[in-house]
Amino acid sequence: MPPYQYQRIAIIGASGQLGSEFRRLLGERAIAIRHSQLEISDPLSVRQALIAADPDFVINAAAYNWVDKAEDEPQVAYAVNALGPRNLALACAERSIPLLHVSSDYVFGLDARDTPYSETDTPGPLGAYGLSKLAGEYFVRSLCPQHYVVRTCGLYGHAEAVGKGNFVKTMLRLGRERGHVRVVDDQYCTPTSAADLAEALVDLIQTEAFGLYHLTNRGQTTWYDFTREIFEIANVNATIEAISTAEFGAKARRPANSLLNCDKAAGVLHGHMPPWHDAVARYLSSLNG
Ligand SMILES: NC(=O)c1ccc[n+]([C@@H]2O[C@H](COP(=O)([O-])OP(=O)(O)OC[C@H]3O[C@@H](n4cnc5c(N)ncnc54)[C@H](OP(=O)(O)O)[C@@H]3O)[C@@H](O)[C@H]2O)c1
Repeated sequence: MPPYQYQRIAIIGASGQLGSEFRRLLGERAIAIRHSQLEISDPLSVRQALIAADPDFVINAAAYNWVDKAEDEPQVAYAVNALGPRNLALACAERSIPLLHVSSDYVFGLDARDTPYSETDTPGPLGAYGLSKLAGEYFVRSLCPQHYVVRTCGLYGHAEAVGKGNFVKTMLRLGRERGHVRVVDDQYCTPTSAADLAEALVDLIQTEAFGLYHLTNRGQTTWYDFTREIFEIANVNATIEAISTAEFGAKARRPANSLLNCDKAAGVLHGHMPPWHDAVARYLSSLNG
């Protein structure tokens, strides 16, 4: 293992699912910056936080992740997901600090294709959330030369805030409370463990191979099959009804396929991330532990 070149790594969004994994992995090298200490949409707040932290690397794990709500308040999503990374990119570029920014599979979907997306594919979001994330990517890529912009999919992990949910926790709760869940069976994705992603990203930032990447656990599934796997491993005795996206009737449109081709990252990291079903099994056992 080469010596780490970064010793003061600021983690913006440190209390979220991914931010929490970075704190755990980076230990004494992590400078945790929580929402209470920094408002990412405010340029002054970002500058002050970076001056106080004096980092040699910045990770942006903060985001507005409310996909449906973003349709009603697109300006809020844009402020956090687009102007926030813009503020960080400008502040990092001024100080020649490299920036890792995390983005989403929901920058895709408009072309309704059924094969995985590569970094060279033209994005086309279906909703306000995806649009705000795409704008954030463009700001980082154009304003901060030393950047990693990494798109991922369906994250689940351990956030600091008690009661903060994710798909896995929500399904476990609903399955146990109601004994019956209805889950969409026509959206293909790769659920991704925040712990596995953070580990891969810590390796990626050692490479200095700056650029745009796709990174998820390996393989593909639907939310319905993912739920079947969760219930089987966790021994939840509930029926699962497969429904269509139209039947579910969510406010925001979502990609029918948001699979990400991760070969570019695998080339740099000398391997793919673990399969999604292994990852969720580890996650479920960590919830019990
Ligand atoms: N979750 C998914 O399924 C998913 C899928 C694809 C990509 N991603 C991307 O992956 C990254 C990590 O996601 P995650 O699931 O770890 O997110 P998360 O658990 O929701 O954490 C986001 C963090 O950002 C903070 N935050 C929100 N608004 C902020 C603001 N205005 N200023 C400063 N901090 C703010 C939150 O703090 P408070 O809670 O205190 O507000 C929270 O700690 C994000 O870029 C996300 O878009 C996530």
